Amino acid sequence: MDEREKRLKELEAKGVVATDENGIRVVDASLLQDPVRFRSQDNDERRKVGKERTKRKPRTSPLKPAAEESPEEEVEQKVLRPSEIKKREQLNKQFKKEFTMAEEDVPKGVGLDVGTSFLVAGRFEDDGKIHFSKMRDCFIQLEPKTAINAKFIKKGLDDRKAPYIEKDGSFYVLGEDAFVMANERHIVTRRPMHRGVLSPAEKEAFPILQELIKRIVGEPRVKGEQLIFSSPAKPIDAEFDQLFHQDMIRSFINSLGFDAHPMNEAEALAYSELLEEGLTGVAISCGAGMMNVAVLSAGDPVVTFSTSRSGDWVDQQAAIATNMTPSIVQQEKEDPDLDLMDPDPGNQVQAAIAVYYGNLLVYTLENIAHDLRSSPQLPKFKDPIPLVVAGGTSLPKGFIAKFEQALNAVDMPVEISEIRHAPDALHAVSNGLTLAASME
Ligand SMILES: Nc1ncnc2c1ncn2[C@@H]1O[C@H](COP(=O)(O)OP(=O)(O)OP(=O)(O)O)[C@@H](O)[C@H]1O
Ligand SMILES: [Mg+2]
Repeated sequence: MDEREKRLKELEAKGVVATDENGIRVVDASLLQDPVRFRSQDNDERRKVGKERTKRKPRTSPLKPAAEESPEEEVEQKVLRPSEIKKREQLNKQFKKEFTMAEEDVPKGVGLDVGTSFLVAGRFEDDGKIHFSKMRDCFIQLEPKTAINAKFIKKGLDDRKAPYIEKDGSFYVLGEDAFVMANERHIVTRRPMHRGVLSPAEKEAFPILQELIKRIVGEPRVKGEQLIFSSPAKPIDAEFDQLFHQDMIRSFINSLGFDAHPMNEAEALAYSELLEEGLTGVAISCGAGMMNVAVLSAGDPVVTFSTSRSGDWVDQQAAIATNMTPSIVQQEKEDPDLDLMDPDPGNQVQAAIAVYYGNLLVYTLENIAHDLRSSPQLPKFKDPIPLVVAGGTSLPKGFIAKFEQALNAVDMPVEISEIRHAPDALHAVSNGLTLAASME
C-alpha cells in the first residue's frame, strides 16, 4: 500500500472520508484535525510571512481597521531583468553604489490587480524593482442634511486628507478612509465589487471603481503604455458572467490613455511564482470574493476557473454561527494571533473561523478535483506538479497545514509535489501582471 492509500485508510477510519452509494468520496471538513503529513518545502518563506505579520502594530481599539493602509509598498521580488541591467546592478553592489536606472531603461507597463477587497497596482521604478500601491476597494456615502452641513463635511474630509468625490449632492469617501470612518460610525462600507466582478446590486459601482482605478494607476508614462489587469475566470458554482465586467474595465482604462488587456488572475499568479518550474503547476489565488484556479502546462493555462466562496464567505458563515457581524469576524480573522490549526478554545469566533476555513478548503479542492477530472484539456503530467497559493485568505497562520489536510482527504486527479505559499501573498498577482505588462 502506498503512502497515499495508507493516509486515506486512516482518514476513513476516523470518519473524515467516506464513500457514498455512487462511489464518490465525501469529506467531513469539521473532522479535519489530523497532524500534518507533509510539509511544503518552502517553510522558510512561510516563516518569513509569519514574522512579517507578527511585526504588525498591536491593535489599540477593536474598531481599528484590520489591515493598515499602504499606499506605496516596497517588496523585494523575483523579477525578470535584462542581463546587462543585472550586470550593472551587481557592479554597483560591489562598489556600494546605489543602483538607479536611466529613465528610458526602466521597463514600462503597469500590472493592476482589480480585487473585491483591494486594488493593487505594480510598476517598475528606477531601482529596477517593482513597487506596489494598494487601495481598499470600498466607499461610504455621506449625505449632507443642509448646505451648511455640506460645507462642514467637506472641510472635515479635506482636513483629514481623505480621498472623496462629490456627486449628486453627496460625498463619496473612498478606500482606507472610508473603512476607518465606517468603523468610527458603526456603519458598514459599500463595495463596488462583489465576488470578483462589478456588483450588480450597487448602483454606484462603476463610477466609484473608475475613480479608485484612476487614482491608483495615475497617468501612463508613455502614450499607450501597456496595462494588464486581473480578471476572474468563469465561476463553476455561480451564475454570472465576468466578460461584461472585463469589457467595462478595459474600455475605462483605455480612456485613461493606456493600452489595457485582461489576464486571468490565477495565470498572473503563476507568472509570478512558477517561472522556475517552466510555468507548470497549479496556481490558486485565495481572495475575498473568489478562489481563482489555473492549471498550467509549460506556460499554457490549460484549465482555468473560479469558485465563489472565499474570505467573505468565511466572514459571513462564522458571523451567522456566532451571532456577530461579518466585520468583527473579519477583524478576528486578520488578527496575527489567530492560528487555524490551534484556535483559542476560549474564543468562539476563532473556533468558528477555523471550522469554516476547513469547510472552505475542502469545498474548493473538491470542486477543483471534479472540474479537473471532467476536463478534456487536462494534460497527463509525467511528474507530480507544484501547487502555489496566494491572496489575503491564505495569510492566517496554519493555512498551509489546513490546506495539506484538506488535500490529503480529497481525491485529486493530478499528483501534487509540494504546496508552496507565495512569499508576498498580497502582491503576487500584481507582480505577475506587472511582469507580463513589461514584456516587450
Ligand atoms: N492578514 C490577514 N489574515 C487573514 N486574512 C486576511 C489578511 N489580510 C487580508 N485577509 C483577507 O483576505 C481577503 C482579501 O484578500 P485579497 O486582497 O487577496 O482579495 P481580492 O483580490 O481583493 O479579492 P478577489 O480576488 O476575490 O476579487 C479578505 O477576506 C481579507 O479579510
Ligand atoms: Mg484577488
